[in-house]
Amino acid sequence: MTLILAIESSCDETACAVVRDGKEILSNIVSSQINVHTLYGGVVPEVASRIHVENISTVITEALAKAEVTMDDIDAVAYTRGPGLIGSLHVGVQAAKTIAWAFNKPLVPINHMTGHIYANRFVSELKFPLMALVISGGHTQLVWMKDEWSFEEIGTTGDDAIGEAYDKVARVLGLGYPGGPKIDKIAKEGKPHYSLPTPKTANPYDFSFSGLKTAVLQMIQREEKKGEEINIADAAYCFQETALTSMVKKTIAAVHEYQPRMLVLAGGVAANSRLRVMMEEEMAKIEETDLIIPPLYCCTDNAAMIGAAGYVAYMHGERGGFDASADPGMLMPGEEE
Ligand code: KG4
Ligand code: ZN
Repeated sequence: MTLILAIESSCDETACAVVRDGKEILSNIVSSQINVHTLYGGVVPEVASRIHVENISTVITEALAKAEVTMDDIDAVAYTRGPGLIGSLHVGVQAAKTIAWAFNKPLVPINHMTGHIYANRFVSELKFPLMALVISGGHTQLVWMKDEWSFEEIGTTGDDAIGEAYDKVARVLGLGYPGGPKIDKIAKEGKPHYSLPTPKTANPYDFSFSGLKTAVLQMIQREEKKGEEINIADAAYCFQETALTSMVKKTIAAVHEYQPRMLVLAGGVAANSRLRVMMEEEMAKIEETDLIIPPLYCCTDNAAMIGAAGYVAYMHGERGGFDASADPGMLMPGEEE
């Protein structure tokens, strides 16, 4: 049995978890700062770092207590080294290094995006080769995994990430932050009233959402000029259908070409209810590939997912030094230039 203490602080969640063998959550404490950042309409990095400093010790203490273990029982300390906001990451990195040094435990630095992918380990054993659609506030990636702990990005976004587009469109529609869940909810009442342009990219597996976001903004301005009020539910519906249809089509094309044994969704946008239905419908037609969708509690940022990835990295012999610092632009393992 291997117990990993995992720490995550890459954006606006201060989190610590204890995970057994990379697939069983003994505790998963997440202290969200959403209420504070909502006041500003988005994450304010300096504010985020300060709140991480205030909360980090508490979440670590709580995670150990809830799991009913002490640091003596822990085999390794995994932490998010990047990507993310530098000031936010820094707090988790320092906490992980301090605790590992004080209790003489190995350190395992983890890429946040691999954490999102390995969150699926709480649902099912992973079967390789595997395709992961990683969709969050900062990333939109198709990641091909020939084997365990092997990552190859076959598609990414050249501009906005999908979650970022949701957040920005929600802001112009006056729905507030974070926009993803708000658009998800209100779009259920919307109709296909507006027509928006389908995103175009040179590489078939790349994504683009900034043109679509601008088209929504221009549509609102056009309606205003005509003296008409935009129908928020219809606009949310049309944005969501256009964005998701394009993303799902590309993912299904990649599944046809690469023929993975599993397709997994990963990241905050995997919580989207419409996306889940669209994916299930499309993947039901492809018998050879299983679709895995993580439960809602491990789609958005948490430390359990860092514990899942941390376990696999630990078993692969990955260790970090006490000289390591946060890496805000961190690439996935194997993608280093
Ligand atoms: O993975 P995550 O918690 O943080 C990052 O690593 O970025 O993802 C946060 C993103 C935000 O952009 C948020 O609006 C989006 O995930 N999100 C959603 C939903 N829930 C969260 N987007 C669409 N539908 C949702 N239900
Ligand atoms: Zn994330």
